[in-house]
Amino acid sequence: MGNFFPRWTNLVPLKILFAAFLVATGLAAAVATYWTKGYSAVGYQPDQPIPFDHSLHAGQLGMDCRYCHSHVERSSHANVPNAQTCWNCHSQIKTNSEKLVPLRAAMDESFAGYTGKPIEWVKIHKLGDYAYFNHSVHVNRGVSCVSCHGKINEMKVVWQDKSQTMGWCLDCHRNPATALRPLDQVTNLDWKAEETDRSSFYAALAHQTGLKVEDLEKRAQQRGFETTGALTQKEIGSQLKEAWGVHPPESCSACHR
Ligand code: HEC
Ligand code: HEC
Ligand code: HEC
Ligand code: HEC
Ligand code: HEC
Repeated sequence: MGNFFPRWTNLVPLKILFAAFLVATGLAAAVATYWTKGYSAVGYQPDQPIPFDHSLHAGQLGMDCRYCHSHVERSSHANVPNAQTCWNCHSQIKTNSEKLVPLRAAMDESFAGYTGKPIEWVKIHKLGDYAYFNHSVHVNRGVSCVSCHGKINEMKVVWQDKSQTMGWCLDCHRNPATALRPLDQVTNLDWKAEETDRSSFYAALAHQTGLKVEDLEKRAQQRGFETTGALTQKEIGSQLKEAWGVHPPESCSACHR
C-alpha cells in the first residue's frame, strides 16, 4: 500500500504550531497596543524641553488657561502656546534662568545660542486619527477642562489624568448632567457646585432662557430636587442640560467620520 497522504502532510503539525504562534503573538501585540493607548496612557508624563509648571502659572499666578491655550473655545484643536506667549513675560522675568534657555534660543536674538526655532513640546494627550474630537463644542457647552484633564492647575508637570477611551467618552455622553457648569466657570478648575449661589444661578438662567425663576424652580422640583439649601452638580447639570438642549451623540458616525 502506497503512502495515502502526500509527503508534505508530515509538516502539517509544524505549520499549525507556527500559525498558532503567529496568532498568539499578533494578539499579544494588539492587546499591548490597546492597553498602552487605552489604559497605561493614564499618567503619561514625558520630559519637556522646558520644565513648565502649571501649578505656578495657572495655580499660584492665577493665569487663565485661555491666555495660553487661546484656541480652545474657537477651534476643534486646543493649541499649545508659541514662544512669543512666554516671551511676553520672560523677556523681563527670570531672563537668566537655566530652565529658560530653550526660550531664549527661540526668541532672544542677542543670545549666543539663538536659533529662532520653536520650542518642541512633547504631546501628552492624543487620540487615534480615526476618532474625531472637537474642543470648542465641549467648552462652549459648559464642560470644564477639569472633567477631561484633571486638576491641571495643581500639576507641576502635566500628566494624562483620564483614560480617553471610547467608554470614557460615552460615560459622559450618556449622562452629561454630571459635567455641565455655567460657561464662565469652564476654566475655573476649583469651581464647586455646592458653593454656587442659588439665587444668582437661577437669576442668570432665567435671564438666559427668558423663563421665570419660579418656573425653573418648578422644573427642578418635578425632577426631585429640593430647591432650598446648597446647589448640587446634579441640579445645576440637569437645569443646564434642559435649558441648552444638550444631547451628546452616541452614534458611531459622530466620532468616527
Ligand atoms: C503660561 C501658559 C499656560 C497656561 C496659563 C496654561 N497652560 Fe497648559 N500648557 C502650556 C504649555 C507650554 C504646555 C506644554 C508643556 C506641558 O505639557 O507642560 C501645556 C500643556 C497643557 C496640556 C497638555 C497638552 C498635551 O500635550 O496633551 C493640557 C491638558 C493643558 N496644558 C491644560 C491647561 C489648563 C486646563 C490650563 C488652565 C488651568 C492651562 N493649561 C494653563 C502653557 C500654559
Ligand atoms: C504672565 C506672565 C508669565 C507668562 C506669560 C509666562 N510666565 Fe513663566 N513665570 C512667570 C513668573 C512670575 C514666574 C516666577 C518667577 C519667580 O519665581 O520669581 C515664572 C517662572 C517660570 C519658570 C521658572 C524659572 C526658574 O528659574 O525658576 C519657568 C521655567 C517658566 N516660568 C516658563 C514659562 C514658559 C515656558 C512660558 C510660556 C509657555 C511662561 N513661563 C509664561 C510669569 C510668566
Ligand atoms: C470633553 C473632554 C475635554 C475637555 C472638556 C477639554 N479637553 Fe483638552 N483634550 C481632550 C482630548 C480628548 C485631547 C486629545 C485630542 C486629540 O488627540 O485630538 C485633548 C488635548 C488637549 C491639548 C493638547 C493639544 C495639542 O496640541 O497637543 C490641550 C493643550 C488641551 N487639551 C487643553 C484643554 C483646555 C485648556 C481645556 C479647557 C478650556 C480643555 N482642554 C478641555 C479632551 C478635553
Ligand atoms: C465630561 C463630558 C464629556 C466627555 C468626557 C466627552 N464629551 Fe463629547 N460631548 C459632551 C457634551 C456636553 C457635548 C455637547 C452636546 C450638545 O451640544 O448637544 C458633546 C458633544 C460631542 C460631539 C458632537 C459635536 C461635534 O463635535 O460634532 C462629539 C463628536 C463628541 N462630543 C465627541 C467626544 C469624544 C470623541 C470624546 C472622548 C474623547 C468625548 N466627546 C468626551 C460631553 C462630553
Ligand atoms: C463619543 C464618541 C464615540 C462614539 C459615539 C463611538 N466611538 Fe468608537 N472610539 C471613540 C474613541 C475616543 C476611541 C478610542 C480612540 C483612541 O484610543 O485613541 C474609539 C475606539 C473605537 C474602536 C477601536 C477599539 C477600541 O475600543 O479602542 C472601535 C472598533 C470603535 N471605536 C468602534 C465604534 C463603533 C462601532 C461605534 C458605534 C456603536 C463607536 N465606536 C462609537 C469614540 C467614539
